Amino acid sequence: MAEIAPSILAADFANIQRDVEMLNASQADYIHVDIMDGMFVPNISFGLPVCEAVYKHAKKPLDVHLMIEQPDRYLEAFKKAGAAGLTVHYEACPHLHRTIQHIKELGALPGVALNPHTPVEVLSEILGDVSLVLIMSVNPGFGGQKFIQNTYQKIAKLQALKEKFGYTFKIEVDGGVNLDNAPLLVKEGVNILVAGSFVFSSDNPLKTIADLKTS
Ligand code: DX5
Ligand code: ZN
Repeated sequence: MAEIAPSILAADFANIQRDVEMLNASQADYIHVDIMDGMFVPNISFGLPVCEAVYKHAKKPLDVHLMIEQPDRYLEAFKKAGAAGLTVHYEACPHLHRTIQHIKELGALPGVALNPHTPVEVLSEILGDVSLVLIMSVNPGFGGQKFIQNTYQKIAKLQALKEKFGYTFKIEVDGGVNLDNAPLLVKEGVNILVAGSFVFSSDNPLKTIADLKTS
């Protein structure tokens, strides 16, 4: 049984209130908010005003995934725009410890994300300080991409570190999640499944979320 964080990136932006209300009525545990700057990743998604608009209608905590360079510049603004959790990329943070402390000081849950090529071992000195580790199972930048199979062994390595040292962070996986890979991911130790296109392009998103939850 995992927690589910549907990604609002795959919603209909012309009907954002309707889609947020659908998520409110669903078994989703969070709303995943993907922020892309066109620099750290090749795509631009949306920024603060859209995050605020989602927050205005959301009854679930916002899990904000910052795919941006120098995220420290915007932590406070995204906290004010409704973020309950703020996840930054390891690859974008030369002073990751400082950034994580900053997120804590703002009163948000700190998370760190890893691109597919980045080994989990690079986080060994920070794992005790984070609430969440987000493992990217696609290269960040776009919804609807194909799940990278190497993710399973990465999750297993991270779960082994978690058990060895008794850490309490949650493991989240993001990209190409569906009902085929979800049960295997949960078995390896994933606590939170992010799903964008699989939820929003399904005929019955409420049922899809419920099915993912019991996977
Ligand atoms: C990708 C984003 C993901 C994306 C997931 O860069 O971080 O959160 O929205 O979308 P799907 O589930 O369609 O791969
Ligand atoms: Zn994401």
